Amino acid sequence: MSLTIHPFFEPSTGSYSFIVANPESKCCAIIDAALSVSEKSAREGADKPNTDSADLMLDWIEAHGFVVRWLLDTHIHADRPSATGYLKSKLLCAQSAIGALMPNISGYDVLLRDGDKICLDHMCGRVIETPGHTPGCVSFQFDDCVFVGDTLFMPDTGTARCDFPGSCPYVLYESIQKILSMPDDTRLYICHDYGGDGRRNRFVTTVKEQREKNIHVGKQASIEKFVDLRTKRDKTLSTPRWADIAIPANLKCMGLTAIASLLSERVVQEPH
Ligand SMILES: [Fe+2]
Repeated sequence: MSLTIHPFFEPSTGSYSFIVANPESKCCAIIDAALSVSEKSAREGADKPNTDSADLMLDWIEAHGFVVRWLLDTHIHADRPSATGYLKSKLLCAQSAIGALMPNISGYDVLLRDGDKICLDHMCGRVIETPGHTPGCVSFQFDDCVFVGDTLFMPDTGTARCDFPGSCPYVLYESIQKILSMPDDTRLYICHDYGGDGRRNRFVTTVKEQREKNIHVGKQASIEKFVDLRTKRDKTLSTPRWADIAIPANLKCMGLTAIASLLSERVVQEPH
């Protein structure tokens, strides 16, 4: 029997979260759990982030009788608060973990480095450091499946932005090469997809598909070409609507109460 993978879609930010489960011993890990946010910005008086998507994962876990061992984040998400802090308050025995190379990180139980093991009893995965989009990005490999966070998007969307503090397109290119050097049929689980051009949202691709079709790094694109393309594109992107809440909240692995407090402080500071 092998690990099973269960995707969950959070529609307000086009985010995918995953449960990786050991069906023999009934334990699992949750990867990149997301709180849901309003389409409006915080400045426009949006509601507090809600737990709808995270609660669907909790319901699934309870219905299937699993125990959660790990709450894993591939990186500090800028577009929405992570649900890891909220889930930790519900699942006290689970260990929260994120890459150790992110500056100013706190509140997680475990800080991960390249090669560290993530064990679901006798079935273990490993951590692969894949910095670039942020300095602390990591991917998680379980058998022939790799959860790449925002290291790669679907082939027709390319790659994630590299204009946050500490981001670097040169470093992202090198991280992507690590992933693309894996066997052709390695499955890559993506953290964001927005559909588009008439296709439905997707959450899994392969190394072969990325090598052949990724619009930023496919067909053996050179580092110079990638960096030029990435840098030009990043200049056209606006700041994510929830970045001013999501980044400080995620750096401290905040739960709902702390996030609500952050939000109220921010609103109070608004000019009239
Ligand atoms: Fe991201």
